[in-house]
Order: sequence, then C-alpha cells, then structure tokens
Amino acid sequence: MNIVCLGYPVNPMKKLIIATKNSGKAKEVALILEGMGYEIVSLADYPDAPKVEETGKTFIKNAIIKAKTYADFTGELTLADDSGLEVDALNGAPGVFSSRFAPTDEERNSKLLELMKETPDANRTARFICAIAIAEPGGEIRTCEGKVEGTIAHEPKGDQGFGYDPVFYLPHLGKSMAELNADQKNSLSHRGKALEEAKKIMARN
Ligand code: IMP
Repeated sequence: MNIVCLGYPVNPMKKLIIATKNSGKAKEVALILEGMGYEIVSLADYPDAPKVEETGKTFIKNAIIKAKTYADFTGELTLADDSGLEVDALNGAPGVFSSRFAPTDEERNSKLLELMKETPDANRTARFICAIAIAEPGGEIRTCEGKVEGTIAHEPKGDQGFGYDPVFYLPHLGKSMAELNADQKNSLSHRGKALEEAKKIMARN
C-alpha cells in the first residue's frame, strides 16, 4: 500500500536484511544501525531462505557469498558478516574454519591451547577479524573489515562473550575478551569496528 501525505506519496522505509538467523547478532546490528532510516529484518523472517555453503578462503569472500545470495533471494538490500580468529603461530588457523575447528566452544578453546602449549609468549599474537558485505539485489556489493589485535592466553579466563573470548587476551587492558561486558567488547571488537565502517558506507548511500 502506498502512503499518501498532503497529496504526495511517502516512501515506506527501505528494508535492510541482516543475513543471520541468530537473533542476538541481528539485534546487535540493528542497535548500531538505528536511526539510519532502515527497517531492519533478519533471515528469521524468511523461513525458506536457502542455506549457504561458506566456501570462501577469506572472511570477505564468505561475507560476499552470503550477502549476494540473500539479496538476490529477498530482493532487498542485504548485510552479511563473517568473522573468526587468526593465530600467527598456526599460520592464520583457525581462520575461516573458526566455527568448525572442533564441535563446541570449550573443545575449540582446549584444542587451541593444546596446539599452542609450546609457543612462547612473544609468538602468541592473534586477531579477531570481522568482514562485512552489503549487497544490492542483482547489483553492487560493498565491503569493509574490522580487526582487534591480541594474544592467545595460556588458560581460559572470564565468563562473558562467547566462542574464543576466554582465551583471547588484550595486553593493553590486562584482561581476556571474556572479562569485558557487552558495551566494553562492542567498543573495541572486530564486529563493532566493522559495523561502524558499514554505517559510514550506508550513510554515503
Ligand atoms: P561467525 O562468522 O560470526 O558465525 O563466527 C564464526 C566463529 O568465529 C564463531 O563460531 C566463533 O568461534 C568465532 N568468533 C567470531 N567472533 C567472535 C567473538 O567475538 N568472540 C569469540 N569468538 C568469535
């Protein structure tokens, strides 16, 4: 239905699809992009949306695959992200395989600490990376990235956050990522930084 105001049609809000069924992630994105004039919708509203194989060798490639697939499927502007942990002493692993490194978060962290048990402190550098792609249906795709540098701890610490947060140590704060509350984490995290960049891209358009 077209809305008419004083005889002029008023454009309804443009939709932005967040390419995730994870309502926590969709809410986090919606909060950061609030006030930009988009009606933000997640894939939870598209039960028939296809599953996407994340076959890319980089985070950016996987974000592009997801954004393009769901923009074409929904016919709406779509934002997709892909993120993970890169460990220098493991030649960048687990990288794009971060969620497939072992079956559970606990097992992933134990496996990582076991692989790193002989690695001296100076060589335990690592980073979280988040890539974002924003795709128009059948059209242009724009990308951006956010990173946070740290080191791999010798043991897990903290009970906030998720995934590799308990073993990811931030030397300048003297804390693991899992010892930060949600606001502190968002202000410095790879995902928070990438979303701030995405916001600039969206504001330009
Ligand atoms: P996704 O692309 O956001 O689904 O993330 C893939 C995987 O990377 C997750 O399953 C986690 O293992 C890891 N990961 C991504 N972001 C974070 C984070 O902020 N903290 C801890 N682990 C993360």
